[in-house]
Amino acid sequence: MYKDFADVYDLIYSFIDYKKACKKLSKLIKKYKKSSGIELLDVACGTGSHLFYLQNEFICSGTDINTEMLNIAGEKVENATFIHSDMINMDLKKKFDIITCLFSSIGYVKTYENLKKTIENFSNHLNPGGVVIIEPWISKSDYQPGRPSMNTYDNDNIKIARLNTAKLNDNLSIMEMHYLMVKKDEDVQYFKDCHELGLFDHEETIQIMKDSDLEVISFQKGVMVDRGLFLGIKK
Ligand SMILES: C[S@@+](CC[C@H](N)C(=O)[O-])C[C@H]1O[C@@H](n2cnc3c(N)ncnc32)[C@H](O)[C@@H]1O
Repeated sequence: MYKDFADVYDLIYSFIDYKKACKKLSKLIKKYKKSSGIELLDVACGTGSHLFYLQNEFICSGTDINTEMLNIAGEKVENATFIHSDMINMDLKKKFDIITCLFSSIGYVKTYENLKKTIENFSNHLNPGGVVIIEPWISKSDYQPGRPSMNTYDNDNIKIARLNTAKLNDNLSIMEMHYLMVKKDEDVQYFKDCHELGLFDHEETIQIMKDSDLEVISFQKGVMVDRGLFLGIKK
């Protein structure tokens, strides 16, 4: 997943306004955080595009399971610490005031058992009064199997097209991303990247957060895409 072409990630998602998303995040944090510190952890930080903006306001750390993504994040973000870690078994031996898990990354834990472990981990890494902000993946009731999708990126030196048909396997959404890419003076390349994300019911996710010692507020709109947003305050 993203492994062999982490560098393509920022291009294919270049339409996302990370700066705007971080402004919204910052407002939410100011409104709901009750702890006094400013230690922020972005879980599944990918190539560090949120941390690039958040580093100006918070003491930042980022984790991801993918070292290639972390390498890019390390080059992009000067004032942040990056740690290779799987969010399902995360044990950083440190507490934070803010934990974010954005752009549906939580879906990659796939099962409710893992979701419970992951949310408990988030809660265990928070100071009292600290906040966790989770931007969920689509719930099963909103998922549209068979729906085709396409993203493209295009400049004078590189052209990329990514196509996918959404598939369903029980509670998993399966997305086999097919890429065609051509760079200046090179041959056209084809590659495939398979993503499997758990389709979690939003009410169940909220209940897991409540059971993990978090007071929960849920929002219809996310900070990046309209997949909703869950904010938990550590009791
Ligand atoms: C859709 S990307 C989001 C990246 C970044 N948060 C953003 O908004 O651009 C999902 C990220 O989750 C990471 N990931 C997937 N499973 C993970 C796990 N179990 N623990 C930590 N990171 C994981 C992937 O490597 C990838 O970087």
